[in-house]
Amino acid sequence: MPKYRTAIIACGTIGRVHARGWQDVPGQPVAIGAIADTHSDARREFGDFFGVPEEHRYSDYREMLDRERPDFVDVCSWHRLHAEMTIAAASRKPKVILCQKPMAVDLAEADQMLTACERNGVKLFIAFQRPHHATWLKARELLRQGAIGKPIQVTLDDGGNILNTNSHNIRLALFLMDEPRVEWVMGAAERTTEVMERGIPCEDRCLGLAGCDNGATILIQGELLTHNHVGDRRIRIGQGARVIGTDGMMELWTGRPPDDRIRSDGEMAQPEGPSAKYNDEFGVVRYLNGTSQGWVDVEAPWHDCWAHQCQEAIDLVEGRPVEPISDARHGRAVQEVMMALFESARKRRRIDLPLKTKVNPLALMVERGELPVEWPGAYERRARLVRGEAMSWHDA
Ligand SMILES: NC(=O)c1ccc[n+]([C@@H]2O[C@H](COP(=O)([O-])OP(=O)(O)OC[C@H]3O[C@@H](n4cnc5c(N)ncnc54)[C@H](O)[C@@H]3O)[C@@H](O)[C@H]2O)c1
Repeated sequence: MPKYRTAIIACGTIGRVHARGWQDVPGQPVAIGAIADTHSDARREFGDFFGVPEEHRYSDYREMLDRERPDFVDVCSWHRLHAEMTIAAASRKPKVILCQKPMAVDLAEADQMLTACERNGVKLFIAFQRPHHATWLKARELLRQGAIGKPIQVTLDDGGNILNTNSHNIRLALFLMDEPRVEWVMGAAERTTEVMERGIPCEDRCLGLAGCDNGATILIQGELLTHNHVGDRRIRIGQGARVIGTDGMMELWTGRPPDDRIRSDGEMAQPEGPSAKYNDEFGVVRYLNGTSQGWVDVEAPWHDCWAHQCQEAIDLVEGRPVEPISDARHGRAVQEVMMALFESARKRRRIDLPLKTKVNPLALMVERGELPVEWPGAYERRARLVRGEAMSWHDA
């Protein structure tokens, strides 16, 4: 009999990944107690698949929170609803809220989420799950032991817009370096079309450099690299990072089992492929230094990184000593770097942190016509995720 119940808000792709994360915790101490989604097909498919009885499926997430009083809440909606849902959940005082990345769409919302959780005594996690990969945990240990000396620069090069994919990598860079304080950010952003990602305007590409108080910099290259290889050598890392140290180099990236070994979504709609591609993912790490005589592969027994994240939430509730990797403070740090990059583009200067601007500077530039598009016509990058006739959940 599970000791705890979680309530999942928004039953799309990542809601399923959260559900599996709880189920993959050894001993399964947390049951999927209730779900909420505005779309009836999403509720039915998810509820049937994960065995959530009809009477615990809700169209209104506030009603669910009031009636179910869960121990944990998973906020799995698109970014624009993260703050609203987290603040509403916090007011019902669950033990821990796990909210998806990015934390919010701007810094004001991120701070409101922290305030709401603080005043209600609720712990907030921002679910950047990848640092929980077994090999990536080991990578941090090796860096702490000086396997490549002191970090000088962490380079990031994922495609996609910054709030979506490079947010993961900024989180990874800070995690690997043991959470240094970012002192300044300088950056540029390009938006030539009216592209939107999950309901908010986003950039086509961006470039940023963040200076940390440990003397290292983080180089952010968003959707910039045009070559994946030099000769037959893969140079683009994607989800991961390249850490250049005083005495060596480390590379981290991700892999997945072959399609037929990824767990199935059964009858659930899956416009972006099986959701368990996120649960069944693994991290890859290798490093070299002056004495390693070439690359050394880092090994560690695989676990579902999402389950590791859930376990930390359970440990916290049960009073075991834990410094949660996904603590919201770290999610806020990522939010601040991303917003500072956009602010630097807006102000055309280096931005010293703490960032004073609370709005999303990219959205502000778009609103004020300061980033005139060359090819007009708004479009939503993730429209394929939306059911029915709308092109965004926010218009559905
Ligand atoms: N950590 C990761 O690796 C990772 C991967 C994918 C997505 N994400 C994040 O997960 C979040 C969700 O993305 P997704 O791809 O799962 O989206 P999705 O489109 O698959 O699912 C969104 C769900 O929200 C529901 N919804 C919309 N409005 C609602 C409301 N008011 N109340 C309740 N439910 C509502 C929709 O019906 C839909 O089922 C995003 O913030 C994204 O950044 C993270």
